[in-house]
Amino acid sequence: MRRRLCAAAVAAALAAGISAVHLIGGGPFAEAATGSSASVPSGVEVGVPGTAPTDPTGGAATGAAGGVATTARGTAGSPEQGVGSHVDAGAGVGPQTRSTPPLTGPLRALAARRGIAVGATVMTSSNLTDSGYSALLGSEYSMLTPENDMKWSNVHPAPGVYDFTGPDLDVAFAQSHGMAVRGHNLAWSADNPSWLTTVPFSRDQLIAILHDHISTVVGRYRGKVAQWDVVNEGIGGFWWDHIGPDYIDMAFEWAHEADPSAELFYNDFGAEGLGGKADQVFELVRGLRQRGVSIDGVGLESHFDLNPPPLGDIAANMHRLNALGLESAVTELDVRLAMPANGPDLDRQRGIYNDMLRICLAAINCKTFTTWGFTDKDSWIPSAYPGYGAALPFDQSYAPKPAYYGLRAALGG
Ligand code: XIL
Repeated sequence: MRRRLCAAAVAAALAAGISAVHLIGGGPFAEAATGSSASVPSGVEVGVPGTAPTDPTGGAATGAAGGVATTARGTAGSPEQGVGSHVDAGAGVGPQTRSTPPLTGPLRALAARRGIAVGATVMTSSNLTDSGYSALLGSEYSMLTPENDMKWSNVHPAPGVYDFTGPDLDVAFAQSHGMAVRGHNLAWSADNPSWLTTVPFSRDQLIAILHDHISTVVGRYRGKVAQWDVVNEGIGGFWWDHIGPDYIDMAFEWAHEADPSAELFYNDFGAEGLGGKADQVFELVRGLRQRGVSIDGVGLESHFDLNPPPLGDIAANMHRLNALGLESAVTELDVRLAMPANGPDLDRQRGIYNDMLRICLAAINCKTFTTWGFTDKDSWIPSAYPGYGAALPFDQSYAPKPAYYGLRAALGG
Protein backbone atom coordinates (compact mmCIF):
# COMPACT_ATOMS: atom_id res chain seq x y z
CA MET A 1 0.00 0.00 0.00
CA ARG A 2 1.29 3.42 -0.88
CA ARG A 3 1.68 6.37 1.39
CA ARG A 4 0.96 4.72 4.67
CA LEU A 5 2.54 6.19 7.70
CA CYS A 6 4.98 4.11 9.66
CA ALA A 7 3.93 3.04 13.12
CA ALA A 8 6.94 4.75 14.67
CA ALA A 9 5.81 8.15 13.46
CA VAL A 10 2.35 7.58 14.86
CA ALA A 11 3.81 6.48 18.16
CA ALA A 12 6.08 9.52 18.25
CA ALA A 13 3.20 11.82 17.49
CA LEU A 14 1.07 10.33 20.20
CA ALA A 15 3.92 10.39 22.66
CA ALA A 16 4.33 14.08 21.93
CA GLY A 17 0.89 14.57 23.38
CA ILE A 18 -1.01 15.28 20.20
CA SER A 19 -4.65 14.97 21.04
CA ALA A 20 -5.86 14.49 17.52
CA VAL A 21 -3.74 13.77 14.52
CA HIS A 22 -4.13 12.85 10.91
CA LEU A 23 -0.97 11.70 9.32
CA ILE A 24 -0.56 10.87 5.68
CA GLY A 25 2.92 9.67 5.00
CA GLY A 26 4.78 10.90 1.97
CA GLY A 27 1.75 12.03 0.02
CA PRO A 28 0.82 15.50 -1.00
CA PHE A 29 -0.59 16.22 2.43
CA ALA A 30 2.18 14.94 4.69
CA GLU A 31 0.28 16.25 7.66
CA ALA A 32 1.08 15.94 11.31
CA ALA A 33 -0.86 18.27 13.48
CA THR A 34 0.59 19.76 16.57
CA GLY A 35 -0.62 22.82 18.32
CA SER A 36 2.22 25.01 17.17
CA SER A 37 3.62 23.41 14.06
CA ALA A 38 0.88 21.66 12.22
CA SER A 39 1.86 20.33 8.86
CA VAL A 40 -0.86 20.45 6.28
CA PRO A 41 -1.33 19.99 2.56
CA SER A 42 1.92 21.10 1.01
CA GLY A 43 2.32 24.81 0.84
CA VAL A 44 -0.54 25.56 3.18
CA GLU A 45 0.30 28.19 5.72
CA VAL A 46 -1.11 27.86 9.17
CA GLY A 47 -1.69 29.99 12.16
CA VAL A 48 -2.97 33.04 10.34
CA PRO A 49 -3.69 35.37 13.21
CA GLY A 50 -7.20 36.01 14.35
CA THR A 51 -8.91 37.36 11.32
CA ALA A 52 -11.98 35.21 11.66
CA PRO A 53 -15.30 36.46 12.90
CA THR A 54 -16.31 35.49 16.38
CA ASP A 55 -19.39 33.48 17.09
CA PRO A 56 -22.20 35.83 18.12
CA THR A 57 -24.00 32.95 19.82
CA GLY A 58 -21.11 32.19 22.10
CA GLY A 59 -20.42 28.90 20.40
CA ALA A 60 -22.15 25.94 21.98
CA ALA A 61 -20.08 23.16 20.53
CA THR A 62 -22.58 20.36 20.52
CA GLY A 63 -24.51 19.50 17.40
CA ALA A 64 -28.14 18.74 17.00
CA ALA A 65 -27.78 15.03 17.50
CA GLY A 66 -25.63 14.94 20.59
CA GLY A 67 -22.05 14.18 21.35
CA VAL A 68 -19.50 12.72 19.00
CA ALA A 69 -16.30 12.39 20.92
CA THR A 70 -13.07 13.17 19.15
CA THR A 71 -10.12 10.97 19.79
CA ALA A 72 -6.50 10.53 18.85
CA ARG A 73 -5.91 9.34 15.33
CA GLY A 74 -3.16 7.66 13.41
CA THR A 75 -3.41 6.42 9.88
CA ALA A 76 -5.94 4.61 7.75
CA GLY A 77 -6.01 0.92 8.44
CA SER A 78 -5.17 1.15 12.12
CA PRO A 79 -8.05 -0.78 13.58
CA GLU A 80 -7.28 -0.01 17.18
CA GLN A 81 -7.88 3.66 16.56
CA GLY A 82 -10.87 3.45 14.28
CA VAL A 83 -13.75 5.70 14.97
CA GLY A 84 -16.46 3.20 15.75
CA SER A 85 -15.90 2.59 19.41
CA HIS A 86 -15.31 6.25 20.12
CA VAL A 87 -18.48 7.61 18.66
CA ASP A 88 -21.47 8.13 20.80
CA ALA A 89 -23.74 9.87 18.35
CA GLY A 90 -27.13 10.57 19.75
CA ALA A 91 -26.19 9.71 23.28
CA GLY A 92 -26.47 13.30 24.35
CA VAL A 93 -23.16 14.02 25.99
CA GLY A 94 -24.37 17.56 26.32
CA PRO A 95 -22.75 20.88 25.61
CA GLN A 96 -19.00 20.84 25.59
CA THR A 97 -17.49 22.79 28.44
CA ARG A 98 -14.35 24.74 27.69
CA SER A 99 -11.42 25.05 29.98
CA THR A 100 -9.51 27.09 27.40
CA PRO A 101 -10.68 30.01 25.29
CA PRO A 102 -11.83 29.32 21.72
CA LEU A 103 -9.05 29.25 19.17
CA THR A 104 -8.77 32.13 16.77
CA GLY A 105 -7.81 32.22 13.11
CA PRO A 106 -9.55 31.11 9.94
CA LEU A 107 -11.07 27.66 9.51
CA ARG A 108 -8.03 26.38 7.63
CA ALA A 109 -5.72 27.21 10.51
CA LEU A 110 -8.01 25.55 13.04
CA ALA A 111 -8.34 22.52 10.76
CA ALA A 112 -4.58 22.31 10.31
CA ARG A 113 -4.16 22.13 14.08
CA ARG A 114 -6.40 19.09 13.99
CA GLY A 115 -4.51 17.59 11.08
CA ILE A 116 -7.17 17.87 8.41
CA ALA A 117 -7.72 19.97 5.31
CA VAL A 118 -10.95 21.90 5.02
CA GLY A 119 -12.12 22.49 1.48
CA ALA A 120 -14.79 24.03 -0.69
CA THR A 121 -15.79 23.83 -4.32
CA VAL A 122 -15.60 26.61 -6.87
CA MET A 123 -18.56 26.37 -9.23
CA THR A 124 -16.51 27.60 -12.19
CA SER A 125 -13.25 29.47 -12.47
CA SER A 126 -15.15 32.65 -13.36
CA ASN A 127 -16.18 32.89 -9.70
CA LEU A 128 -12.56 33.59 -8.85
CA THR A 129 -12.71 37.01 -10.49
CA ASP A 130 -15.02 38.18 -7.68
CA SER A 131 -12.59 39.63 -5.16
CA GLY A 132 -14.86 39.14 -2.16
CA TYR A 133 -15.42 35.52 -3.11
CA SER A 134 -11.79 34.73 -3.76
CA ALA A 135 -10.57 36.50 -0.61
CA LEU A 136 -12.93 34.43 1.52
CA LEU A 137 -12.09 31.19 -0.24
CA GLY A 138 -8.34 31.72 -0.08
CA SER A 139 -8.31 32.78 3.55
CA GLU A 140 -10.74 30.25 5.07
CA TYR A 141 -10.05 27.06 3.12
CA SER A 142 -7.00 24.88 2.56
CA MET A 143 -8.39 22.73 -0.24
CA LEU A 144 -10.19 23.55 -3.49
CA THR A 145 -12.37 21.33 -5.65
CA PRO A 146 -13.42 22.52 -9.09
CA GLU A 147 -17.17 21.88 -8.97
CA ASN A 148 -17.64 21.63 -12.74
CA ASP A 149 -14.49 22.72 -14.59
CA MET A 150 -12.90 19.27 -14.68
CA LYS A 151 -16.00 17.45 -15.85
CA TRP A 152 -15.99 15.82 -19.26
CA SER A 153 -18.16 18.29 -21.14
CA ASN A 154 -15.90 21.16 -20.14
CA VAL A 155 -12.49 19.54 -20.39
CA HIS A 156 -13.04 17.16 -23.31
CA PRO A 157 -15.65 18.92 -25.49
CA ALA A 158 -14.86 17.15 -28.76
CA PRO A 159 -13.10 13.92 -29.73
CA GLY A 160 -9.40 14.33 -29.02
CA VAL A 161 -9.88 17.99 -27.99
CA TYR A 162 -9.05 19.02 -24.44
CA ASP A 163 -9.68 22.45 -22.92
CA PHE A 164 -7.93 23.11 -19.64
CA THR A 165 -8.72 26.81 -19.38
CA GLY A 166 -11.00 26.52 -16.34
CA PRO A 167 -9.11 23.88 -14.38
CA ASP A 168 -5.79 25.66 -15.01
CA LEU A 169 -7.20 28.80 -13.39
CA ASP A 170 -8.58 26.80 -10.45
CA VAL A 171 -5.30 24.99 -9.87
CA ALA A 172 -3.28 28.21 -10.19
CA PHE A 173 -5.54 29.89 -7.62
CA ALA A 174 -5.13 26.98 -5.25
CA GLN A 175 -1.37 27.00 -5.65
CA SER A 176 -1.07 30.72 -5.09
CA HIS A 177 -3.13 30.44 -1.92
CA GLY A 178 -1.41 27.40 -0.50
CA MET A 179 -4.42 25.19 -1.08
CA ALA A 180 -4.46 21.54 -2.06
CA VAL A 181 -6.70 20.46 -4.97
CA ARG A 182 -9.30 17.67 -5.19
CA GLY A 183 -9.86 16.72 -8.79
CA HIS A 184 -13.50 16.02 -9.65
CA ASN A 185 -14.00 13.78 -11.62
CA LEU A 186 -12.73 11.36 -14.26
CA ALA A 187 -15.59 8.96 -14.97
CA TRP A 188 -19.23 9.78 -14.27
CA SER A 189 -22.51 8.90 -15.91
CA ALA A 190 -23.60 12.54 -15.99
CA ASP A 191 -22.12 15.55 -17.75
CA ASN A 192 -20.73 13.50 -20.61
CA PRO A 193 -20.61 15.34 -23.95
CA SER A 194 -22.97 14.21 -26.67
CA TRP A 195 -20.10 13.24 -28.96
CA LEU A 196 -19.33 10.54 -26.41
CA THR A 197 -22.81 9.32 -25.60
CA THR A 198 -24.59 9.47 -28.95
CA VAL A 199 -22.01 7.74 -31.16
CA PRO A 200 -22.29 3.94 -30.89
CA PHE A 201 -18.68 3.33 -29.93
CA SER A 202 -17.60 -0.26 -29.39
CA ARG A 203 -16.50 -1.41 -25.94
CA ASP A 204 -12.85 -1.36 -27.03
CA GLN A 205 -13.20 2.13 -28.42
CA LEU A 206 -14.74 3.39 -25.18
CA ILE A 207 -11.96 1.78 -23.19
CA ALA A 208 -9.42 3.58 -25.37
CA ILE A 209 -11.28 6.90 -25.06
CA LEU A 210 -11.54 6.64 -21.26
CA HIS A 211 -7.89 5.65 -20.99
CA ASP A 212 -6.81 8.61 -23.08
CA HIS A 213 -9.00 10.96 -21.04
CA ILE A 214 -7.69 9.81 -17.68
CA SER A 215 -4.05 9.76 -18.79
CA THR A 216 -4.33 13.23 -20.32
CA VAL A 217 -6.23 14.94 -17.51
CA VAL A 218 -4.40 13.32 -14.59
CA GLY A 219 -1.10 13.68 -16.43
CA ARG A 220 -1.59 17.41 -16.91
CA TYR A 221 -2.00 17.93 -13.17
CA ARG A 222 0.53 15.37 -12.04
CA GLY A 223 1.90 16.51 -8.70
CA LYS A 224 -0.67 19.34 -8.51
CA VAL A 225 -3.88 17.47 -7.69
CA ALA A 226 -3.67 15.77 -4.32
CA GLN A 227 -6.82 13.65 -4.61
CA TRP A 228 -8.89 12.55 -7.57
CA ASP A 229 -12.48 11.39 -7.60
CA VAL A 230 -11.61 8.79 -10.19
CA VAL A 231 -15.05 7.22 -10.42
CA ASN A 232 -18.07 9.30 -9.44
CA GLU A 233 -21.44 7.72 -8.67
CA GLY A 234 -20.22 4.81 -10.73
CA ILE A 235 -22.47 1.83 -10.00
CA GLY A 236 -24.60 1.67 -13.11
CA GLY A 237 -24.73 4.42 -15.70
CA PHE A 238 -22.89 5.13 -18.92
CA TRP A 239 -19.46 3.54 -18.37
CA TRP A 240 -20.83 0.59 -16.42
CA ASP A 241 -23.42 -0.13 -19.09
CA HIS A 242 -21.07 0.20 -22.06
CA ILE A 243 -17.81 -1.23 -20.74
CA GLY A 244 -18.93 -3.27 -17.75
CA PRO A 245 -18.16 -3.03 -14.02
CA ASP A 246 -14.45 -3.57 -14.71
CA TYR A 247 -14.19 -0.02 -16.06
CA ILE A 248 -13.76 0.93 -12.42
CA ASP A 249 -10.64 -1.21 -11.99
CA MET A 250 -9.24 0.14 -15.24
CA ALA A 251 -9.93 3.77 -14.36
CA PHE A 252 -8.10 3.53 -11.05
CA GLU A 253 -5.09 1.84 -12.61
CA TRP A 254 -4.83 4.42 -15.40
CA ALA A 255 -5.10 7.26 -12.89
CA HIS A 256 -2.41 5.68 -10.76
CA GLU A 257 -0.11 5.30 -13.76
CA ALA A 258 -0.63 8.94 -14.70
CA ASP A 259 0.13 10.24 -11.20
CA PRO A 260 1.40 7.70 -8.69
CA SER A 261 1.45 10.35 -5.95
CA ALA A 262 -2.22 11.31 -6.18
CA GLU A 263 -4.73 9.77 -3.80
CA LEU A 264 -7.53 8.05 -5.66
CA PHE A 265 -11.15 8.01 -4.50
CA TYR A 266 -14.43 6.37 -5.37
CA ASN A 267 -17.09 9.04 -4.69
CA ASP A 268 -20.83 8.58 -4.26
CA PHE A 269 -24.02 9.99 -2.73
CA GLY A 270 -26.53 8.31 -0.47
CA ALA A 271 -23.79 5.99 0.75
CA GLU A 272 -22.71 7.87 3.86
CA GLY A 273 -24.27 5.66 6.50
CA LEU A 274 -25.00 1.93 6.61
CA GLY A 275 -27.30 -0.35 4.66
CA GLY A 276 -28.60 -0.11 1.10
CA LYS A 277 -26.34 1.82 -1.21
CA ALA A 278 -23.65 2.30 1.43
CA ASP A 279 -23.30 -1.48 1.61
CA GLN A 280 -23.15 -1.71 -2.17
CA VAL A 281 -20.34 0.84 -2.27
CA PHE A 282 -18.58 -0.93 0.56
CA GLU A 283 -18.71 -4.25 -1.31
CA LEU A 284 -17.48 -2.55 -4.46
CA VAL A 285 -14.43 -1.03 -2.82
CA ARG A 286 -13.75 -4.19 -0.84
CA GLY A 287 -13.54 -5.98 -4.18
CA LEU A 288 -11.17 -3.34 -5.53
CA ARG A 289 -8.92 -3.72 -2.49
CA GLN A 290 -8.99 -7.53 -2.76
CA ARG A 291 -7.92 -7.28 -6.39
CA GLY A 292 -5.08 -4.95 -5.47
CA VAL A 293 -6.51 -1.97 -7.34
CA SER A 294 -4.89 1.38 -6.50
CA ILE A 295 -7.69 2.97 -4.53
CA ASP A 296 -7.03 5.12 -1.48
CA GLY A 297 -10.42 6.18 -0.26
CA VAL A 298 -14.14 6.64 -0.56
CA GLY A 299 -15.79 10.04 -0.87
CA LEU A 300 -18.97 10.44 1.16
CA GLU A 301 -20.75 13.21 -0.70
CA SER A 302 -23.13 14.21 2.12
CA HIS A 303 -25.79 16.25 0.35
CA PHE A 304 -28.21 16.42 3.25
CA ASP A 305 -31.42 18.07 4.31
CA LEU A 306 -32.27 18.48 7.99
CA ASN A 307 -32.64 14.70 8.34
CA PRO A 308 -29.23 13.21 7.60
CA PRO A 309 -28.52 9.50 8.08
CA PRO A 310 -27.92 8.46 11.69
CA LEU A 311 -24.59 9.95 12.70
CA GLY A 312 -23.47 6.74 14.34
CA ASP A 313 -23.99 4.98 11.00
CA ILE A 314 -21.77 7.48 9.20
CA ALA A 315 -19.10 6.99 11.84
CA ALA A 316 -19.45 3.22 11.59
CA ASN A 317 -19.13 3.41 7.80
CA MET A 318 -15.92 5.40 8.13
CA HIS A 319 -14.71 2.82 10.61
CA ARG A 320 -15.35 -0.16 8.33
CA LEU A 321 -13.68 1.66 5.42
CA ASN A 322 -10.70 2.22 7.67
CA ALA A 323 -10.58 -1.51 8.30
CA LEU A 324 -10.14 -1.96 4.54
CA GLY A 325 -7.21 0.45 4.68
CA LEU A 326 -9.20 3.21 3.00
CA GLU A 327 -9.68 6.85 3.79
CA SER A 328 -13.18 8.27 4.06
CA ALA A 329 -13.41 11.87 2.91
CA VAL A 330 -16.38 14.16 3.29
CA THR A 331 -16.46 15.50 -0.25
CA GLU A 332 -19.65 17.43 -1.01
CA LEU A 333 -21.35 18.45 2.23
CA ASP A 334 -24.28 20.82 2.06
CA VAL A 335 -27.43 20.99 4.17
CA ARG A 336 -30.37 22.38 2.24
CA LEU A 337 -33.18 24.27 3.94
CA ALA A 338 -36.72 25.02 2.85
CA MET A 339 -36.81 28.63 1.71
CA PRO A 340 -37.09 31.16 3.12
CA ALA A 341 -34.81 29.78 5.80
CA ASN A 342 -35.86 30.46 9.37
CA GLY A 343 -33.80 30.80 12.52
CA PRO A 344 -34.55 27.39 14.03
CA ASP A 345 -33.63 25.66 10.76
CA LEU A 346 -30.38 27.62 10.52
CA ASP A 347 -29.57 26.43 14.03
CA ARG A 348 -30.36 22.81 13.16
CA GLN A 349 -28.18 23.22 10.10
CA ARG A 350 -25.39 24.46 12.32
CA GLY A 351 -25.74 21.31 14.38
CA ILE A 352 -25.39 19.06 11.32
CA TYR A 353 -22.27 20.86 10.10
CA ASN A 354 -20.84 20.61 13.58
CA ASP A 355 -21.69 16.91 13.87
CA MET A 356 -20.25 16.02 10.48
CA LEU A 357 -16.96 17.72 11.18
CA ARG A 358 -16.73 16.08 14.60
CA ILE A 359 -17.43 12.69 13.04
CA CYS A 360 -14.59 13.33 10.59
CA LEU A 361 -12.25 14.45 13.35
CA ALA A 362 -13.12 11.36 15.36
CA ALA A 363 -12.37 9.05 12.44
CA ILE A 364 -8.75 8.10 12.03
CA ASN A 365 -9.16 7.87 8.27
CA CYS A 366 -11.02 11.14 7.58
CA LYS A 367 -8.44 13.70 6.54
CA THR A 368 -10.25 16.02 4.18
CA PHE A 369 -13.59 17.75 4.69
CA THR A 370 -15.13 19.58 1.74
CA THR A 371 -18.38 21.49 1.35
CA TRP A 372 -20.10 21.80 -2.04
CA GLY A 373 -19.48 25.51 -2.39
CA PHE A 374 -19.16 27.83 0.58
CA THR A 375 -21.53 30.73 -0.11
CA ASP A 376 -25.27 30.55 -0.73
CA LYS A 377 -24.63 32.89 -3.64
CA ASP A 378 -23.17 30.01 -5.64
CA SER A 379 -24.80 26.71 -4.80
CA TRP A 380 -26.31 24.01 -6.97
CA ILE A 381 -29.17 23.52 -4.49
CA PRO A 382 -31.76 26.07 -5.68
CA SER A 383 -31.74 24.64 -9.21
CA ALA A 384 -31.40 20.99 -8.21
CA TYR A 385 -33.95 21.16 -5.36
CA PRO A 386 -36.54 23.84 -6.16
CA GLY A 387 -37.84 25.50 -3.02
CA TYR A 388 -34.62 24.76 -1.11
CA GLY A 389 -31.47 26.78 -0.60
CA ALA A 390 -29.30 28.39 2.09
CA ALA A 391 -27.27 25.18 2.25
CA LEU A 392 -23.77 26.50 2.89
CA PRO A 393 -21.77 28.12 5.72
CA PHE A 394 -21.75 31.66 4.28
CA ASP A 395 -24.81 33.59 3.12
CA GLN A 396 -25.40 35.34 -0.20
CA SER A 397 -23.43 38.38 1.01
CA TYR A 398 -20.52 36.22 2.21
CA ALA A 399 -21.43 36.74 5.87
CA PRO A 400 -20.84 33.74 8.13
CA LYS A 401 -23.94 31.80 9.14
CA PRO A 402 -24.53 29.65 12.23
CA ALA A 403 -23.23 26.69 10.17
CA TYR A 404 -19.85 28.39 9.90
CA TYR A 405 -19.68 28.77 13.65
CA GLY A 406 -20.68 25.14 13.97
CA LEU A 407 -17.61 24.22 11.96
CA ARG A 408 -15.40 26.49 14.04
CA ALA A 409 -16.77 25.04 17.27
CA ALA A 410 -16.02 21.51 16.09
CA LEU A 411 -12.42 22.60 15.57
CA GLY A 412 -12.16 24.28 18.96
CA GLY A 413 -12.72 27.80 17.67
C1 XIL B 1 -23.31 19.39 -9.75
C2 XIL B 1 -22.90 20.86 -9.74
O1 XIL B 1 -22.93 21.33 -8.43
C3 XIL B 1 -23.81 21.67 -10.61
O2 XIL B 1 -23.34 23.02 -10.71
C4 XIL B 1 -23.89 21.05 -12.00
O3 XIL B 1 -24.83 21.75 -12.78
C5 XIL B 1 -24.28 19.58 -11.93
O4 XIL B 1 -23.36 18.90 -11.06
N1 XIL B 1 -22.85 15.00 -7.16
C6 XIL B 1 -21.64 15.27 -7.76
C7 XIL B 1 -21.40 16.60 -8.35
O5 XIL B 1 -20.73 14.44 -7.72
O6 XIL B 1 -20.56 16.58 -9.46
C8 XIL B 1 -22.68 17.33 -8.69
O7 XIL B 1 -22.35 18.66 -9.04
C9 XIL B 1 -23.63 17.29 -7.52
C10 XIL B 1 -23.98 15.88 -7.15
